[in-house]
Amino acid sequence: MTPEKMSEKTEELCRLAPIIPVLVVDDARHARPLAEALVAGGLPVLEVTLRTPAALDAIREMAGVDGGVVGAGTLLTPEDVRAAKEAGARFGVSPGATDRLLTACENADLPLLPGAATASEALALLERGYRVQKFFPAEASGGAPALKAIGAPIPQVRFCPTGGVSLANASDYLSLPNVLCAGGSWVAPKDLVQRGDWSGIEALAKEASALSR
Ligand code: 3PG
Repeated sequence: MTPEKMSEKTEELCRLAPIIPVLVVDDARHARPLAEALVAGGLPVLEVTLRTPAALDAIREMAGVDGGVVGAGTLLTPEDVRAAKEAGARFGVSPGATDRLLTACENADLPLLPGAATASEALALLERGYRVQKFFPAEASGGAPALKAIGAPIPQVRFCPTGGVSLANASDYLSLPNVLCAGGSWVAPKDLVQRGDWSGIEALAKEASALSR
């Protein structure tokens, strides 16, 4: 798949909801009820980070949840891309971009939201055809003011800022013209997941999905 086509796909996904939950799943048994709660709360696009041994099984479980679109986050290598695709991921997210990683996603037909934190990184990805990118790490890279500043000379790139985004600051990002949606882990806090408090997570998702952009 070409980077241009991937950007069409990732833009469609980013338009489905204002927030993409960034999920760290320690126990694959939590995956299905967690995904169901988030989807019920209005957040259908789910990013499962490949940071735990349970992540690939979690993606497999979540891929069967009605109304959800599950992707794999923390893609670092071509091996991650293959494993994510095999588990049923419909999209990928990476903290940064390397030639090997981009080529692997293009060859695997896995739409990728590639990470960029600077104007040069955003431009390099745009040159290759990626006009939808993840701004990471958003808060540590200067937050909404930095992203607004990047948007002045490079308005054609649209972003999903992630990293330090919360209910308190999400609107600062979502109000920018170069932001499609934002990513964050706050909608699935570890303690609620461990306790199996799915209604609590659904309530957090409802609050996040009501954010305007
Ligand atoms: C991450 O890579 O962990 C994401 O950017 C999520 O960041 P957050 O936990 O600050 O929302």
